[in-house]
Amino acid sequence: MDIKVKIKGTGIYAPKKVVTNFDLEKIVETSDEWIFERTGIKQRHICSTEGGEWPSDMAYHATLDALKAANLEPNDIDMILFASVTPDHKLPNTACILQQKLGITNKCAALDIAAACSGFVYGLNMATGLIKMGAIKNALIIGSEMLSREINWKDRNTCILFGDGCGVAIVGANEDASDSSDVLSLHLGADGKGKEFFDQPVGGAVEPITPTHIEESSHFMQMKGREMFKVATRTLAENARIVLDRADEKLENVDWLIPHQANVRIIETTGKLLGIDPEKVIINIDKYANTSAATVPIAMHEAITDGRIERGQLLLLDAFGAGLTTGATLLRY
Ligand SMILES: CC(C)(COP(=O)(O)OP(=O)(O)OC[C@H]1O[C@@H](n2cnc3c(N)ncnc32)[C@H](O)[C@@H]1OP(=O)(O)O)[C@@H](O)C(=O)NCCC(=O)NCCS
Repeated sequence: MDIKVKIKGTGIYAPKKVVTNFDLEKIVETSDEWIFERTGIKQRHICSTEGGEWPSDMAYHATLDALKAANLEPNDIDMILFASVTPDHKLPNTACILQQKLGITNKCAALDIAAACSGFVYGLNMATGLIKMGAIKNALIIGSEMLSREINWKDRNTCILFGDGCGVAIVGANEDASDSSDVLSLHLGADGKGKEFFDQPVGGAVEPITPTHIEESSHFMQMKGREMFKVATRTLAENARIVLDRADEKLENVDWLIPHQANVRIIETTGKLLGIDPEKVIINIDKYANTSAATVPIAMHEAITDGRIERGQLLLLDAFGAGLTTGATLLRY
């Protein structure tokens, strides 16, 4: 029997501190006009470094809202998939930290996913497989990032682009025969050839951080923006076609495209390549900037709570990120 998979509840957490483009004008040579024209970003949220807004804390708050929306208890969760490139610690994984914060005592599986901006979609698709084979009933998928820790705030090529935040979704078996909610098709992939387009080689086993790295600020994230731009548009458009083909669906039937929010021009170019009505594309990069694994669930949650996304509609989630990783999901909400 085919088990249907439903998004039962979502939640987000945006750190309290907001940093506008005008604030950035004071620390690097840039302007609100340049940032907005080239990226669509107006502001970003930044986590407190005093505590209370670590990636696991943001996920905790967002999950409480998602549980409420799903009408579930913490112990109903059978698996936690925590997508982040900025985990709380190296060990233990942040999924385990979150399990404990949520008071989950059922010993559910807890795993971190390192797939950069595609991490949430990776988690959603992997959980879908496990639910459809009957191995688990409910999974908590998280994208939670504190990128402000890994950004060189003196580098205008990167610091203007990113923000902190968290989005989560609880997905589970849909046992109601009259309910059409289901994941219809999915795609996951990666191309390691593009690894140098967006990386952070210092700080791992190969090259631990030394005082020299800190002096030279070479331990932060580094990006080749133009290369990422080109790959991103091509990949997002390809992904959308793949999941539509796999589900034998037509683009015109998609109610909402929810793309990774890296740059509004990437999103618009992807939309044009696909030929989708711009009104059907969810964009909120102006408020949050690029929050990596969190952009897709934050955008989806906002559109659900403000009433744009309704039950029964066809959603296409589409992401790409460092690696280069990529993934898409076509689902009936
Ligand atoms: C980074 C990005 C916004 C740069 O936009 P762009 O239009 O490609 O801009 P360029 O890099 O060509 O730079 C154009 C000029 O603006 C300057 N510039 C770069 N950053 C600037 C900033 N923050 N403020 C003002 N000027 C800036 C450059 O130095 C360059 O000046 P020059 O022409 O005198 O050399 C864009 O390439 C991008 O968004 N790429 C994708 C990034 C991405 O997706 N990353 C994450 C993937 S998950």
